[in-house]
Amino acid sequence: MSSAIETLVRQHRDCDQALEGLEASLRQPDWDAATGAFARLEDALQGNFTAEEERLFPAFEQVAGSAGGPTAVMRHEHGDVRALLDNAREWLQLRDANALAAELDTLSVLLQQHNLKEENVLFPMCRAHVPGLDALLANVG
Ligand SMILES: [Fe+2]
Repeated sequence: MSSAIETLVRQHRDCDQALEGLEASLRQPDWDAATGAFARLEDALQGNFTAEEERLFPAFEQVAGSAGGPTAVMRHEHGDVRALLDNAREWLQLRDANALAAELDTLSVLLQQHNLKEENVLFPMCRAHVPGLDALLANVG
């Protein structure tokens, strides 16, 4: 596996862990922990989406000659996740643990499906067709 793709997959796992931490903090609920966990989740998602949207997807679109293929679907799903995160932030501010947990359930399912599509379909396509993938994502943390 290229190190660039490894980095993106690691970012996916970091998002999963941040989400699990947030869900765990709601069992008490511990609102200080939830606030910290939410910020970690937001940072992790933002870092991953930015790397994909600003580096990986444009490189794939250039090779594919179109921005209307799988990357359009992935960008759309990022938008869906961001909308769910916005809802979750409101429930966090209102300290409604049940509503927040329900929102996170939806977010979790969507994110799992999305990341699986990237890891099983899009990333292998990028690895096969995008030249200089490691350099492209060299500074992504
Ligand atoms: Fe993605």
